[in-house]
Amino acid sequence: MRIIKCENYAAMSIIAGKIIADIVAKNRKAVLGLATGSSPVGVYEYLINKYKKGVLDFKEIKAVNLDEYKGISKTNPHSYYYYMHDKLFKHINISNDACFIPDGTNPDEEAECSAYERKVASLGYADIQLLGIGRNGHIGFNEPSDEFPEETHAVCLAESTIEANKRFFDKAEDVPTKAYTMGIGTIMKAKEILIIASGLDKAEAVRNAFFGEVTPLVPASILQKHPNVILVCDREAFSLCENKCSDR
Ligand code: GLP
Repeated sequence: MRIIKCENYAAMSIIAGKIIADIVAKNRKAVLGLATGSSPVGVYEYLINKYKKGVLDFKEIKAVNLDEYKGISKTNPHSYYYYMHDKLFKHINISNDACFIPDGTNPDEEAECSAYERKVASLGYADIQLLGIGRNGHIGFNEPSDEFPEETHAVCLAESTIEANKRFFDKAEDVPTKAYTMGIGTIMKAKEILIIASGLDKAEAVRNAFFGEVTPLVPASILQKHPNVILVCDREAFSLCENKCSDR
């Protein structure tokens, strides 16, 4: 695992943005695994900027997103579908039919999850998977549990996740209680994983995930087993790890 420590969110976003931009520049048909939340916004701004300057071309790029809330429509500004279009897709020349996100409006959990898993597999899984990290160590919406779920599945969100994500909604009662998410196995099949973390409220999750034991109670800890992981984090997110060895 490579760990890149940055001064702040802006620096983290530029470094992580460059890593993705290099992949797009080298492989015009790359499959990008993408994430939502506040962490990747700066990375997307970086990519949009490079596209507008004519440095990057997304014409043949494909995108597979990690997760989606269950039960909210694509036009709902809280949906991850809306987020991805608003924060990235509508600003670049990626083809609409090359962007894949679980369909949160499909009430049939089994059908939706197996169709999404097959879709990601048919694309050969992500060339690079961008991840944020939840305050409880979740990745995608893989919440702490007693096993690592393999494939795309439906989850009940942890209380702490609902609490953390309510800042995007008017009130906690509005946060959906279920979601569809790639499984840990789906994520681990990405050829490269780029995880970003910023701010003091991620410090505990970063320490537990990268310097603690590998356990499904901290879903991101599984990344210690992936052969090609880069953690890009800011000083605050790394603050509980300063006395640990920086390269693992
Ligand atoms: C959400 C998403 C995750 C994201 C995490 C952290 O629950 N499902 O994919 O990484 O929260 O979000 P943020 O970057 O806003 O802290």
